[in-house]
Amino acid sequence: MVIERVVEPTEMEEEQNTEEIVRENILRPKTFDEYIGQERLKTNLKLAITAARKRGESIEHVLLFGPPGLGKTTMAGVIANEMGAGFKVTSGPAIERAGDLASILTNLADGDVLFIDEIHRLKRAVEEVLYSAMEDAKLDIVIGKGPAARSVRLDLPMITVIGATTRTGSLAAPLRDRFGLIHRLEFYQQNEIGQIIKRSAKLLETEIDDKSAEILSERSRLTPRIANRLVKRVRDYADVKGDGKINEEMTRAALLTLEIDELGLDAGDRNMLKLISDNYGDRPVGVTTIAALTGDEVSTIEDFFEPYLLQIGLLERTPRGRRATLRAKKHLEKYEQKNKA
Ligand code: ADE
Repeated sequence: MVIERVVEPTEMEEEQNTEEIVRENILRPKTFDEYIGQERLKTNLKLAITAARKRGESIEHVLLFGPPGLGKTTMAGVIANEMGAGFKVTSGPAIERAGDLASILTNLADGDVLFIDEIHRLKRAVEEVLYSAMEDAKLDIVIGKGPAARSVRLDLPMITVIGATTRTGSLAAPLRDRFGLIHRLEFYQQNEIGQIIKRSAKLLETEIDDKSAEILSERSRLTPRIANRLVKRVRDYADVKGDGKINEEMTRAALLTLEIDELGLDAGDRNMLKLISDNYGDRPVGVTTIAALTGDEVSTIEDFFEPYLLQIGLLERTPRGRRATLRAKKHLEKYEQKNKA
């Protein structure tokens, strides 16, 4: 069974349908000025771009890491736009063979930005092609087979690679070393999420009052992608049950039907915390055990559930595993009390 989680900050565009990509693109900022939050990252990138421009060069390759949904793809698009460069998007799992990457590379122009999402999932043979492309703008290919095989080097355009990954730990060291700029995207401040919500509502031509924007900003997991998704869901609700305007009544009612609580947790998060708390109390438990309890993949727990729960102090990481905090226990009790009534 596939459960659609409104709060799931899925990053993979191949999982989205075309309409969703087009609609999401309306909301994506195109310039640093439009991009809300990540101030330190923007400062560093602006500096690198200005310096490269002055020298008439492209910027160095950029690696962006951090939890999904925080705007890595969006930031890559902004970088390309600010550099006045072409922008091509692909992802680690989408490039199956070295030849696939070779054909992407040979179709790029000088100065273009190639964005590789989930770059930690590139296959080894594909990675090797990327190394020489990033370092020397060369493509090494083998022609022929057996004793007649020979290797040739082809010139490639000078490009900037922007890689995105949820974890730097799973990136091979030689690949990591080829990035000149390595930056982490942080969770947003709640007031930044509030600004993003208002901006998105405006672009979607939907009225939203301050209170509703505040409530939604509390429940967006400090993550723009989730904030934008919630705005769309509440707008749907207001279109069907109200006059299309997002007000407090519509917002609260929509969130109730989505089972999203005051901290932005959904049924899946609460289920995981409850399983940990019921089975282990305040003792630590390994992530593989948690995955077995919830029936999820370890990577799903690590990439999707955990970062926000750690950020807001409902989970704690210890040398012997994860532990549900007292705050988590209190939150679950409060939620159960409220929903029993
Ligand atoms: N939409 C998604 N992320 C955004 C951001 N950081 N700023 C403005 N709009 C956004």
